[in-house]
Amino acid sequence: MNVIKGSVEDPVEAGGPYNVTAAVQNIIAVLTDVLFGDIWLCGGQSNMLFEVSKIFNASEELKRAAHYPHVRTFMATLAQSKTEQTDLIDVQIPWSVPPLLCWLFGRDLYDKLQYPIGLVESCWGGTPIEPWCSPRALQHCGLLQEPGDGPKVNSLLWNAMIHPLLNMTIKGATWYQGEANTNYHQKKYNCSFPAMIDDWRMAFHQGSGGQTALDFPFGFVQTADTGFVPNPRMQKTFMAVAMDLPDEKSPYGSIHPRDKQDVAFRLSLGARAVAHGEQDVAFRGPFPSQILSTPKYLKITYDQKVSVTPSENIFEIYCSESESSWDPKAHWVPAPIMQWGLTTVQLSTSVCSPTEQVAALRYAWRNWPSKVINEL
Ligand SMILES: *[C@@H]1O[C@H](CO)[C@@H](O)[C@H](O)[C@H]1NC(C)=O
Ligand SMILES: *[C@@H]1O[C@H](CO)[C@@H](O)[C@H](O)[C@H]1NC(C)=O
Ligand SMILES: *[C@@H]1O[C@H](CO)[C@@H](O)[C@H](O)[C@H]1NC(C)=O
Ligand SMILES: *[C@@H]1O[C@H](CO)[C@@H](O)[C@H](O)[C@H]1NC(C)=O
Repeated sequence: MNVIKGSVEDPVEAGGPYNVTAAVQNIIAVLTDVLFGDIWLCGGQSNMLFEVSKIFNASEELKRAAHYPHVRTFMATLAQSKTEQTDLIDVQIPWSVPPLLCWLFGRDLYDKLQYPIGLVESCWGGTPIEPWCSPRALQHCGLLQEPGDGPKVNSLLWNAMIHPLLNMTIKGATWYQGEANTNYHQKKYNCSFPAMIDDWRMAFHQGSGGQTALDFPFGFVQTADTGFVPNPRMQKTFMAVAMDLPDEKSPYGSIHPRDKQDVAFRLSLGARAVAHGEQDVAFRGPFPSQILSTPKYLKITYDQKVSVTPSENIFEIYCSESESSWDPKAHWVPAPIMQWGLTTVQLSTSVCSPTEQVAALRYAWRNWPSKVINEL
């Protein structure tokens, strides 16, 4: 028999399957088919739980699943609790190979890393962020305790579906959520989301006796055109852009786009760059590194190559009489693209009147920007 010993300082080499034997005097327990590798926690709402059987090219993707015995999924049963639980109330899917969105992410990571990837799914459709936050995180954002029952109530899912997992050593987390906050504490999301990330990091670090990194990587899928990450407030995070992948005709509703492969692949690129420090992985869209403003035009220089289709209204500028104080007549207008290069886009500012200046610039600023992008 091969005897393998592991510790925090000297972890077991990734791989398997192994049999793990525990013996106390003459009582012996054997765990079979055990893999060593990375565990990622997958949280959020229905899009994270989206079955591969519903995505585009479902049958091919399901066939491919058989070739990935080292990518495994575990799923917590939907449960809520008023107090912090130390164990899951139930397990929906024990470690096995049923493909869900997060499985696609694990598969793409496996393709690169070639060692076992475990995915712990703990998500609930239609839930806002508040039930997934501890009272600490909510308090930080002035989100007061609300009495009541149901999966939307503050901290109830944290208590029942996240807290019991704290003893696990995780490599990182991915998150596909936000839809249920479009009309619920929406203005607080810029506080609650980073606060939840900080709090989960602290709690998993403590719960695992220091084995889970205090700054573990946290990736998420874009649900609105929200800024950029990583940024100084949200370090070691990554975002899979999704605004160019709309699916208006999805039989599951346009809130459930069926292209999950691209979303998962983009998450895996972020994980490779942020969690594994791989260099030269393009995991972010073009970022404006310089903006040159002249009386006639704005020239934006990006940090990477851009592919431009001239459009009349994807860029908008804010024309204002005053840059500093509030101008009641200030307004947003589409700024036509005049020229472009490998890494540059030049916009005409002649749409502002001669007495106005450009006070701000925005791109694809719509409720449904993907529509505009796809119609270009
Ligand atoms: C683990 O145990 C099972 C059943 O006892 C056995 O069939 C299998 O060969 C063992 N695997 C290893 C890697 O030792
Ligand atoms: C983690 O494990 C320790 C001891 O094994 C236990 O006391 C603690 O309650 C566990 N924490 C959670 C969140 O399960
Ligand atoms: C969040 O957004 C609101 C505006 O909606 C702003 O007033 C507030 O300063 C922002 N908070 C943070 C932490 O960025
Ligand atoms: C589905 O398969 C076709 C043909 O192989 C491919 O062109 C397309 O990109 C796939 N769609 C997704 C979302 O992966």
